[in-house]
Amino acid sequence: MGFPENFSLKSIELNEKRVIRDAIHDYIHVDHLIIWRLINSQEMQRLRRIKQLGGTYQVFQSAEHSRFVHSLGVYQVVRRMLETECLSNALNDYDKLCVMCAGLLHDIGHGPFSHSFEGVFGGNHEDMTVKMILEDSEVHHILSSFYEKLPQDVASIIQHTHPHHILIQMVSSQLDADRMDYLLRDSYMSGTTYGHFDMSRILRTMRIRDGKIVYKESGVQAIENYILARYHMYWQVYYHPTARSYEHLLQCVFQRVKDLYREGYDFQTQLDYLIPMLENRVQVQDFVDLDEAVVLYYFKEFRHEKDFILSDLASRFLNRHLFKYMQLKNLDDLKRIKDIAKDKGYHPDYYIVSDNQKQIPYLHYGESGELSEIEILDSEGSLSPLPMKSEIVSAILNSKRFKSDQKVFFPKEIKDELSIF
Ligand code: NI
Repeated sequence: MGFPENFSLKSIELNEKRVIRDAIHDYIHVDHLIIWRLINSQEMQRLRRIKQLGGTYQVFQSAEHSRFVHSLGVYQVVRRMLETECLSNALNDYDKLCVMCAGLLHDIGHGPFSHSFEGVFGGNHEDMTVKMILEDSEVHHILSSFYEKLPQDVASIIQHTHPHHILIQMVSSQLDADRMDYLLRDSYMSGTTYGHFDMSRILRTMRIRDGKIVYKESGVQAIENYILARYHMYWQVYYHPTARSYEHLLQCVFQRVKDLYREGYDFQTQLDYLIPMLENRVQVQDFVDLDEAVVLYYFKEFRHEKDFILSDLASRFLNRHLFKYMQLKNLDDLKRIKDIAKDKGYHPDYYIVSDNQKQIPYLHYGESGELSEIEILDSEGSLSPLPMKSEIVSAILNSKRFKSDQKVFFPKEIKDELSIF
């Protein structure tokens, strides 16, 4: 079969197609052997052991879903996009295969408790995803044994360098399969309804103009609903202060391990899985070995370390003795809060954390560079950016009062001392 021009998806269809039952999309359809093999690769199966929402389940107790099921969901949304008339005609079969693989694999480079982990050990999950696709991994082998250029073509969609912009837009833009799946899924799994929106309507109003995905004007309300869904999910779920508290505590444990290792502290715990990270020489295979099962095991071990800070933080983490929090009015207060913590015997580097969360619901031209704008096609056939066609989005952009939230997190034991702030 000639790649890419004469390749036909039909030629690689499974005799017996597979379906996976799913809470969000009802059925996830697997029609091609290569997709089935990728799903069963060790890098994809590893995502079963990494939670989609990190510590959010400490607040929304049912939000325990994994990155594995989200990845299947993104693949399924891509597949549904490909079934629309406009995309089905605009793309050849090889591009369709590439974008299905990219949707499925877009998150394989996430570490355990992703954001806290990256915060301490550095690295970036997108770069790691690309590395895993291009270097020595089972996923790489499956892709390259199918067609030698396939790993590069799939990776370039994730890296935003693929020459075909439509494919990038499908997987990673302001309105893409990734966001659509995670909003619907995270909202369903957390038991909140903020993330709900009409995906079928959005897909029906998709069109292709000038080599880009655009949306018919009749889809504007559904898109507004999606933008608000995202905005509300951020404030109600993703940035929930208790979830942040959990992530900070986690980050403090990682930071303590990193600092102790650097100081030459004699760990009782065998750190084999963490050493490549601690020594900043992590290879794809080392990374594949790291998942939340390993990290949680370490945390249980750390409870028995001689270092008090490490054992205390690890116990707090496992027993959900999270840090308390309050609004931080100015940065001078932070210094005083740290002094009080120090007086009370809590090392401020590991027991006092502050953060400032901001979220911009929609990026207009100039704010994020390439391809970010959602474009609306009117009945005369001309294109305008979403804020020109949506009062709501334009009002949000013009308000200049993007919500931000600055908080400081501290151990419960010094709550009374801090009540003066
Ligand atoms: Ni994702």
